[in-house]
Amino acid sequence: MNEENLIMTAKEASRHSHSPYSRTRVGAAILTANGDVFSGCNIENSSYGLTICAERVALFNAVSSGHKSFKGIAIYSDSDVYPMPCGSCRQVLVEFAPEMEVLVVGRDGKRKKYVLEDLLKDYFRIE
Ligand code: THU
Repeated sequence: MNEENLIMTAKEASRHSHSPYSRTRVGAAILTANGDVFSGCNIENSSYGLTICAERVALFNAVSSGHKSFKGIAIYSDSDVYPMPCGSCRQVLVEFAPEMEVLVVGRDGKRKKYVLEDLLKDYFRIE
C-alpha cells in the first residue's frame, strides 16, 4: 500500500472516532511488514483517563491479528494542530518497530515524516 492510501485509511478511520469530550477526531493506519493495513480511531470515555488514542487502537488491532513487525503508521486528525503521537503511544509502538516511519497528517493535508525512535530518544526497554 502506498503513502496516499495509508493516509486515506487513517482519515477514513477518524470518521469512527468516539470523541464527545475533546471533539477531536483522530484516525491511524498501520502498515505491517507483509503489507497488511490495520486502522483505529480514538475512543474517549466519560472517565477521561480511560480514553485510548487512535495509534494504539490501530496497533492493538494489528497485534491481535498476529502481526508484530511494522513499516509505518499514518496519523490523521481534523484538529488545527498536527496529531503528533503522545508519549504513551510512542512507547507502545517503539516496542515493536523503532525504525518505523511515522507520517503525521493535518486537516489541510499537510504532512510531516519521522522515524519513530527519533521521537523517543533513549526509550525504555528490557533486553
Ligand atoms: N489522541 C490520539 O488519538 N492520538 C494522539 O497521539 C494524541 C491524542 C486523542 C485522544 C483524545 O481522544 C483526543 O485525541 C484529544 O486528546
